[in-house]
Amino acid sequence: MGARIFPSNIRFKLVVSLLSIVVVMGSLSLFIGIQIINKNLIREATESVRNSLAATSELYDEEVEKRSRIVEYLAKTAEIARATGEENRKVLFAKLIQIKTEFAFDIVNVVKPDGTILVRANNFEAWGDSVAHYRYIQWILRNKKPAAGTGILGYENIRNEGKDLAERTIIKVVRTPLARQRESQIEDQALVLKVASPIVEDGRMIGILYAAVLLNNNDRFIDRFRRLLFKEERIDGREVGASTIFLGDIRVTTTVMDGSGRRAIGTQVSDEVYRKVYDEGQSWIGQAFVVDKWYISGYSPLRDIDGRILGLLYVGVLKDKFDVALRTTTVLFLLVIGLTVLIALFLSVYLIGVYTKPVQRIIAATHDIAAGNYHRIEVRPHDDDDSRKIANGFNAMVAAIGERDRKLQDLTERTILKSEKLASIGRLASGIAHEINNPLTGVLTYSSLLLEDLQGTAYAEDLAVIRDETLRCRKIVRGVLDFARENEPEKTAADLNAVLDSSLEILEKNVHFQNVEIVRVYDPNLPAVPVDVHQFKQVIGNLAVNAADAMPGGGRLTITTAFEPEAGLIVIRVTDTGAGIAPEHLTRLFEPFFTTKGKGKGTGLGLPVVYGIIRRHNGTIDVRSKIGEGTEITIKLPAT
Ligand SMILES: Nc1ncnc2c1ncn2[C@@H]1O[C@H](COP(=O)(O)OP(=O)(O)O)[C@@H](O)[C@H]1O
Ligand SMILES: [Mg+2]
Repeated sequence: MGARIFPSNIRFKLVVSLLSIVVVMGSLSLFIGIQIINKNLIREATESVRNSLAATSELYDEEVEKRSRIVEYLAKTAEIARATGEENRKVLFAKLIQIKTEFAFDIVNVVKPDGTILVRANNFEAWGDSVAHYRYIQWILRNKKPAAGTGILGYENIRNEGKDLAERTIIKVVRTPLARQRESQIEDQALVLKVASPIVEDGRMIGILYAAVLLNNNDRFIDRFRRLLFKEERIDGREVGASTIFLGDIRVTTTVMDGSGRRAIGTQVSDEVYRKVYDEGQSWIGQAFVVDKWYISGYSPLRDIDGRILGLLYVGVLKDKFDVALRTTTVLFLLVIGLTVLIALFLSVYLIGVYTKPVQRIIAATHDIAAGNYHRIEVRPHDDDDSRKIANGFNAMVAAIGERDRKLQDLTERTILKSEKLASIGRLASGIAHEINNPLTGVLTYSSLLLEDLQGTAYAEDLAVIRDETLRCRKIVRGVLDFARENEPEKTAADLNAVLDSSLEILEKNVHFQNVEIVRVYDPNLPAVPVDVHQFKQVIGNLAVNAADAMPGGGRLTITTAFEPEAGLIVIRVTDTGAGIAPEHLTRLFEPFFTTKGKGKGTGLGLPVVYGIIRRHNGTIDVRSKIGEGTEITIKLPAT
C-alpha cells in the first residue's frame, strides 16, 4: 500500500467537501460579481463620456455664440460704421488691432461689399485682395445677416494673413497604430472658428466685420475645454480626461499626449469612428484606441454654416481609470472570499469535530475491543438520535462478542481438560498394562502347557476357560498399549487405496462380514500419502469391525476416498447403514473403555486407538450419526 499524503478519515473528507463548496461558490460569485461590476463601470463611464461630449458641444457653441455677439455688436458701433463708410483705413486698423487682442481673435478684417479686403488687423499694407470666395462672406452678402460657425481656410488665405499664422497652420501627419491611413503627409488647411457681421449705414450694407480664431495648434483653446470638463486627475502621469478637435481625420489641437509627452497633433482618428461620424453624421461613443492608449471616447461632428461636416469634437476618459477601479474591486472581493473561506474552514472543522465525536468514540472503543478490553459506550443525554442508535448498536455488538468469547473460552477449556484427561488415563492404563503383560504371558504359557498335559481329564475344560480368559485379558492389554503408544508412526509414502483394499480383503473373509456388502468408492487420482501402513490397517480394521457390529442383521459398508487439492487434504469416509449412535454417546466415543457392547464383548478401546493414530498423523476425525440410519466417520489427512 502506498503512503497516503492526506488522512483518509470522515472528518477530513467532510472538511474538504465543505470547503470545495465554499471555494466553488466563492469563485462563482467572484466571477459573476466582477462581470457585473465591469459592465456597470463601463456603462457608467460611457454615460459620463456622453455627458461630457454634450457639454463640449455646448461649450463650443457658446464660444461661437459669444464671439458672434461681440462682432455683431462691434459692427454696429458708430465708430466702425463711420470709418468704414469713409474708408478710413487708419482708424479701422487701430480699432481692429484692439479687437483682435482684447477678444483673442487671430484674424480680424473689414471687407467691402464687393468682397475685397479694406483693412486686416494682421497687416496694414496688405489690402484690396478679394475674399469673396469665403463661404461666410458669401453667406452674409446673400443674407445680409450675421454669420457664425466653424469653417476651413486654405493655406493661401492664411498666408495672406501673416507668416506666423501660416506656420501654425501646417500640421505633419503622424502615423499611430489602429489609425486611419491617408495619402497626403501634410495638412495645410486650417480649421477656424469664424464670425462675421454686416456693417450697416442708413440701412445699406457698407461692409463686413470678419473675425476668426485659428484652431490648428490652439493649445489655449483646447486646454480651456479640458479644464472646464475634467478634474486634474492623472494615472501614471497621464491626464485621465482628454479633449481634441479634429479637422477631417487629423488632430489639429488636443490635450492627448504621445509617448514622449508632446501633444499628439497630426495623429489620426480610427477608421471605424471616421466612417461612423463622417458617413452617417452621427456621434460615436465607445472604447477607442487613441494614439497609444484605450479611452472611453465620444466623438461628435463639427459642421459649417451649410451643415457640412468639417471636423470632430472629441472627449475621452482613460480606460485605465476603470481598470484600476476594477482591480481594486477584484482585490476587495478576493479578500472577502478569502476571509469567508477561512471562517468556513474554522467553523467546519469545529462543527465536524462536534458531529463526528460519536464516530471517534466508537473508533477508540473498537481499538479497545481489539485489544480485548470490552466496554460499552456511554449514551449521553445530549446525544442526537443517530449517535444514540450507533452507540446502542455498538453496545449490543460488544455484548454479543463478549458472550461468544466466553462460550469459546469455555469450550476450549473443556477440550483441553478432555484431552488432558484422556492422556492421563492413557498413561495410567499403559503403566498397568505393561506390568500385567508379563504375568499374563506366564499364566497363558503355563495354562496352555497344563491343558496339553491334562487333555481328556476333568480339568481340561476349566483350564481351557483359564486360557481363553487370559487370551482376552491379553487382547485388552494390547489394546491399551496400542492406545497409549507414544512412539511416532513410521511413515512411508503409500497408496492409500491399496492399503485400504488389503485390509478389507482380510476382513471380508471374517464371519462378522457375512451379511455385509462392502462398497469401495476410490478416487483414482489420490496422491501417495506418508502414512504408517501397519497403523492405518489397524484404523480401517477397527472402524470396519464397529460398523459390522452395528449391522448384526446385515447392511452396507461404504469406503470412500477423495482428494481435495485446494485444501491439500485426503478424505477417507467410512459409512455404514447400521444402528447409529445415540447423541449422548457421541461425545464419549473416544474415551478409553467406553463401550455399549455387553460385558466380554467390547473393550471400548477401538476408537481411542483410531483417534491416537490419526492425531499422530496430524489428521482429524469426525463422527456423524443418526439412530436407525447409520454412521459416517470422516478422516482428513494432510496430503503431504
Ligand atoms: N459404526 C458404529 N455404529 C454404531 N455404534 C458405534 C459404531 N462405532 C462405534 N460405535 C459405538 O462406540 C462404542 C465404542 O466403540 P469402540 O471404541 O470401538 O469400542 P467397542 O467396539 O469395543 O465397543 C461402541 O461400543 C459403539 O457403541
Ligand atoms: Mg470397536
